[in-house]
Amino acid sequence: MRKKITASIIGTGSYLPAKVLTNKDLESMVDTSDEWITTRTGIKERHIAGDDEYTSDMAAKAAMQALQSAGKKPSSIDLIIVATITPDMLFPSTACFVQDKIGAKNAACFDIGAACSGYIYAIEIAKRLVETGSHNTILVIAAEKLSAITDWTDRNTCVLFGDGAGACVISGEESGKPRILCTYTGADSSAAELLMMPGGGTRFPASMQTVEKKLHFLKMAGREVFKNAVLSMYRAAERIMKKSDIKIDEIKCFLPHQANIRIIDAVAKKIGISKEKVYLNVQKFGNMSAATVAVGLDEVFKDWDLKPGDKILVDAFGAGFTFGSLVIEW
Ligand code: ACO
Repeated sequence: MRKKITASIIGTGSYLPAKVLTNKDLESMVDTSDEWITTRTGIKERHIAGDDEYTSDMAAKAAMQALQSAGKKPSSIDLIIVATITPDMLFPSTACFVQDKIGAKNAACFDIGAACSGYIYAIEIAKRLVETGSHNTILVIAAEKLSAITDWTDRNTCVLFGDGAGACVISGEESGKPRILCTYTGADSSAAELLMMPGGGTRFPASMQTVEKKLHFLKMAGREVFKNAVLSMYRAAERIMKKSDIKIDEIKCFLPHQANIRIIDAVAKKIGISKEKVYLNVQKFGNMSAATVAVGLDEVFKDWDLKPGDKILVDAFGAGFTFGSLVIEW
């Protein structure tokens, strides 16, 4: 009988574009203030990709770092999954562009669209594939160029988002590296219209009218999304605690999606996790959709004082609405 495998994260990486856009910079672009953005969201600055820097470029840079930290060659990867809502193009998949950029010639490639929960969805798929033995080494990437779908004249949304990428290598080998103990994913699509980019798909193909109506930009009903975010992230955390039979007190680090500091505070309070266990990067990166927890996981692995056996709870929510969570053991 085949030995039971538990998937491990054998390497992580991240990439943030060089340009930093501060709240002060935004004051000269729209009617806003550093004070409003800081108190309402916790964000101070975000990174913005260059005009000729694409989602696949950021993804490839994060991927190369993850491969280096895993001690793996690109040719050893048998699948690349990219989680993104800002692909280079509708097709081919961004994963295919990444394959070419990093030289992972033996990999199959696909993208998944689950918005801010995309990295968790992708890790869940990768975990299952290595645990069934069908794949050995999978590169999971989350990369977003949200600046390309942001209306820079709309103060309700343009202060919230940033660009970036994070990646990890998932393997079924016994490595002594962090193990993915449990995953949970879900969705509630009854209010999907509260957060979307309507244009460019088959419902509103690109035309003069869709451009004039600004349908190629992200649209969000902030206040309603806020309420859904708290409930969905609470639900994802609660479900995975039950599924894994792990108590919240056993969690050493809580890594939530970083859309707004007030959402994070509300979720942490509801699930009963103390502030010093909450990892935060919203102040320096804003909301990078799927890339948020991907960059966060790389930072937690590198900077958090983790000991063998410590458990990390990852929790995200995004357009759809999708939600999901992971428990990782260091
Ligand atoms: N600067 C100054 N004033 C502003 C700004 C701004 N940037 N943006 C909005 N305002 C104003 C509004 O016009 C409003 O003015 P009014 O009272 O005169 O109408 C006032 O501030 C309050 O607006 P609210 O929308 O009630 O502000 P709120 O406290 O809800 O904060 C925010 C807005 C930050 C968007 C919040 O609702 C939020 O974070 N929502 C959730 C976002 C989120 O989680 N997104 C997740 C997923 S993203 C993805 O999947 C890609």
